[in-house]
Amino acid sequence: MHILEEFDIALDRFKEKTAFDYAPAKGKAYIKKCDTRNLDFIPDESIDLICAHPPYADIIKYSDGIDGDLSQLKVKDFLEKIKKVASKSYRLLKKDKFCAILMGDTRQKVI
Ligand SMILES: C[S@@+](CC[C@H](N)C(=O)[O-])C[C@H]1O[C@@H](n2cnc3c(N)ncnc32)[C@H](O)[C@@H]1O
Repeated sequence: MHILEEFDIALDRFKEKTAFDYAPAKGKAYIKKCDTRNLDFIPDESIDLICAHPPYADIIKYSDGIDGDLSQLKVKDFLEKIKKVASKSYRLLKKDKFCAILMGDTRQKVI
């Protein structure tokens, strides 16, 4: 199984929650299911707002080992991968626009 197959429920929920009209906002939300490790199909400086809710390294696992699932990585490898995702995301943002990252204050118990 690939990580993208896991996303369908979240994708349906997102479509439902963004299916509203708000006159003052003249923008449009485009929804695309993708692996954050490959954002090459999105043109440079084409996005006004990135909202990201990435995994918390391997503190919460989102699969039993699906290919590409960043939550399977140990902290050091996770940080390397998420740094690349951040760098690629920066390329997509229009100048002076915004990126919001939600990362819970979850801690791993070290014994
Ligand atoms: C903290 S959760 C966010 C959940 C989401 N906000 C929702 O409501 O469904 C992190 C999510 O990142 C996903 N994920 C893991 N590796 C990924 C990757 N390479 N590309 C995109 N998403 C990935 C996981 O499957 C998990 O659903």
